Amino acid sequence: MPVAPGVHWIGAFDPDLRSFDIILRTANGTSYNAYAVRGSGGVAIVDTVKANFADGFFRRLESVADYREITTIVLNHLEPDHSGALPELLRRAPQAMLYISHQARLMLKGLFDTTGFEHRIQTVGTGDTVALGDRQLEFFNTPYLHWPDTQCTWLAAEGLLFSGDFLGCHYCDSRLFNDAVGDFRFSFDYYYAHIMRPFRTHVRHALDLIEPLPLRTIAPGHGPILRDDPRDYVRRYRALSDSGLHGATAKTLLVFYISAYGATRRMAEEVAAGAEAASAERGGPGDVRVSLYDIEGSEAQPFVDLIEEADALIFGSPTINGDAVKPVWDLLSSLTMVDVKGKLGAAFGSYGWSGEAVPMIEDRLRRLKLRVPVPGIKARLAPTDEEFAACRELGRQTALHLLGRAETRAIDMASLV
Ligand code: FEO
Repeated sequence: MPVAPGVHWIGAFDPDLRSFDIILRTANGTSYNAYAVRGSGGVAIVDTVKANFADGFFRRLESVADYREITTIVLNHLEPDHSGALPELLRRAPQAMLYISHQARLMLKGLFDTTGFEHRIQTVGTGDTVALGDRQLEFFNTPYLHWPDTQCTWLAAEGLLFSGDFLGCHYCDSRLFNDAVGDFRFSFDYYYAHIMRPFRTHVRHALDLIEPLPLRTIAPGHGPILRDDPRDYVRRYRALSDSGLHGATAKTLLVFYISAYGATRRMAEEVAAGAEAASAERGGPGDVRVSLYDIEGSEAQPFVDLIEEADALIFGSPTINGDAVKPVWDLLSSLTMVDVKGKLGAAFGSYGWSGEAVPMIEDRLRRLKLRVPVPGIKARLAPTDEEFAACRELGRQTALHLLGRAETRAIDMASLV
C-alpha cells in the first residue's frame, strides 16, 4: 500500500484481537504498521510486526523491495508487536544496519539473542540521521511513550513522521488512512488514556519536538495513517496531556475519605481544615486549594482525573477486617493510569482494634512513588480532641510541605532508644 512517494505500508492487520497486553480492550482489533522507505541509495524498513504475522509482512516487503536493497532497519520501539519479525529480517538482509534508541540497546539484549549481529546495531538520538542516498531519516528521542526505548523517525523529504506507538490507536481497518476508515476517535482517545496518559510529561516533551515539524503525514505503529490534517491529532494529544485545572491556585490538595459511622468523616474534615489553615497562615488565601471528597459518592474515574492534576493526596479509611475498605483500594489501584510520582501523600482513619488501614495505604502510596513525609493518624473508635488536633496537624503539615515551608521536626533522641 503506497503511503507517499517511495514509501509503502508493509504491515499486518489483526482484526480479531479483542484485548492487547491483557489490559487493553480492542473492540476493532488492531494493525501492526510497518513501512518500507526507498531512497536512491537503499531501502529502509521502519518497524516490523508481531511474530505470528511475519509471513504477511515478508510477502508485502518482497512486493516492494529485494532483501539485498535493504541498508537500514529502524525499530522505533522494541515491544514484540513491533519487533516480532526482526530476527528473521536481520537474517534475510544480512547487510542491513539496525537503528534503535540508546535506551533500546540493553532491552534488545533482554528480548533477543544478539550474538552474531552486535556489530550491526547502531544506537541513535535526537538529530542523528541515516542517509538513503537522495533522502534521509532523522531520529527523535521520545522515551517513555510508553517504554524507555521509544523514538520517532522523520522523513523530511515527505513531511512524514513514523511515530511508533505515539499517536497510534488500536483500530483495524484495511482502508488504512484516516480519511477513508470509520470513525476511530474513541479508539484514539482510549489508547491515549491507557497507554500514554501515565507518561504525560514525556508526551509533552515529545510534542515539543514534533509540533515544529512541517507534518504532512503521521504514520504510527498501530491504527490509521494520519494524512488528513495530521496536526489535528497532535493538537488532541496536546489538549489531553495539558493540565485541566485553571485558576489562580498554585497547589492542589485533595482529601478522600470513606466512613462507616462518621469517625473517619470527622477526621477528614479536620485534616481539610488544617490544610486550609496552613494556607491562610503561611501562604495566603488561595495558595493551597483544598477539596474534600467522600469516596462513597462517586466512581473512581472522575477522582482519577482530579488526582492527575493534584499536588497532594490524603486518604482516609476505617480499618475493617484488618484492611482498608474496598472503595479505597479501587481508587488506589486506579492510580496506575496517571503519573503520581513525586506527589505528596498521607493517610488517616479510625479503627476498632487493630488499625492496619493507615500503614497499608501509606505503603501503597510509597510504592506508587509518592512522598509521604507526614506520619498518618489512627484513632481508635470515637476520636478524642487530641486525635482531631493531630488530624488538623496532618493537614497543616502536608500543606506546608506543598508550600515548601515544612517545619523542621525536633527529634528527641531518647525516644529512639
Ligand atoms: Fe505497540 Fe508498545 O507496542
